[in-house]
Amino acid sequence: MLVVGARPQLIKCAPLVKEILARGRGLELEIIHTGQHYDREMSAIFFQELGIPQPSANLNVGSASHAKQTAIMMTRLEPLMIKARPDIVLVPGDTNTTLAAAVTAAKLTIPLAHLEAGLRSGDMNMPEEVNRKLTDHCSSLLFAPTKTAVSNLEREGLGGLAYLTGDTNADALRHVMPILARMEKRIMKRHRLSSRNYILVTLHRPSNVDNPARLTRIQNALNKVSKTLNVVFPVHPRTDARLVKLTTFDDETKNMKLLNPQGFIETLSLLKNASCLLTDSGGMQKESFMLHTPCITLRSTTEWPETLVGGANRLVANPEEIPKLISDISYDFSLRSQIKKQKSPFGDGHASARIVKLLRENR
Ligand code: UD1
Repeated sequence: MLVVGARPQLIKCAPLVKEILARGRGLELEIIHTGQHYDREMSAIFFQELGIPQPSANLNVGSASHAKQTAIMMTRLEPLMIKARPDIVLVPGDTNTTLAAAVTAAKLTIPLAHLEAGLRSGDMNMPEEVNRKLTDHCSSLLFAPTKTAVSNLEREGLGGLAYLTGDTNADALRHVMPILARMEKRIMKRHRLSSRNYILVTLHRPSNVDNPARLTRIQNALNKVSKTLNVVFPVHPRTDARLVKLTTFDDETKNMKLLNPQGFIETLSLLKNASCLLTDSGGMQKESFMLHTPCITLRSTTEWPETLVGGANRLVANPEEIPKLISDISYDFSLRSQIKKQKSPFGDGHASARIVKLLRENR
């Protein structure tokens, strides 16, 4: 039983689902959607684009406080798990959906497998750090994407349950690269952008967008950037709700392009062709690295320290530092080729096959 609910989980799981269906050899798959993300552009579009079969149940949990959202998920998951009694519950990533399914399975003594195990930012103020740590400690199978993740698990006494599988985001990227090559020109044209003439921005962490004073400082920094560079900003619903309440962006310069959340191919096209990415997302730091686009992460920690090597990704906590850094990076034409030369720490794009084999052996 695979439990998903939020956008990044659909991306991480898509290649794995494909592999189970194609080569699972007797592995049956039941997909449950908690409904944590429910807008078409945060959920349904990814099922369509990535060819994920429809879930057998949607728990329609929706948005709520952490405790309430997690608790409702647990109460709705419990009867489904009791009825299906799966051999293994599989949970991806670090969202409230991950934690709710992990705790529910653990309490029912159903073996639990964690996809993307062992990530640590070291910052327990992030809800994701709490979710991923607790999930790892409830699991009996830990699929670690990188060597760093395995070391983190060893340090917490979980090394015996850990398998270095590689990262399924690398699989997802490998699958869509041919589609991307076919579509990216059309996508760029539709957005009236050309390669390297803009920066891409994505922000949704509570630490950046839930504090009005900090969000205003970030908006001011982006307004400054947009005086000289095009800024393309697909706005996450959490951020959208807060931006509206705050001062709007300067639209005097026509350089600021606010978009709705985009699909996977669309996002990767925008990322691949951007001169640099400014983000606070975990997945985007990684995708940026794999597409060789320099990245600035608006946080003081990262759960993907591998991306920091050679300046491919830089952590910046202070929004006032953004304009100069973006300008330096956008005009540093050698950085992209330096990133390209690095060996990817995220595996060979065949993590899903290893995971399916482990699931078969351990069911
Ligand atoms: C969640 C994950 C985060 C992940 C992110 C990806 C947790 C604790 N956080 O954060 O790790 O990086 O997903 O997007 O699980 N909303 C909509 N439509 C939707 C979903 C949400 O409008 O389809 C709005 C609601 O106002 C909601 C807010 O976005 O209150 C935030 O949603 P929430 O479920 O709290 O999680 P994210 O912030 O998206």
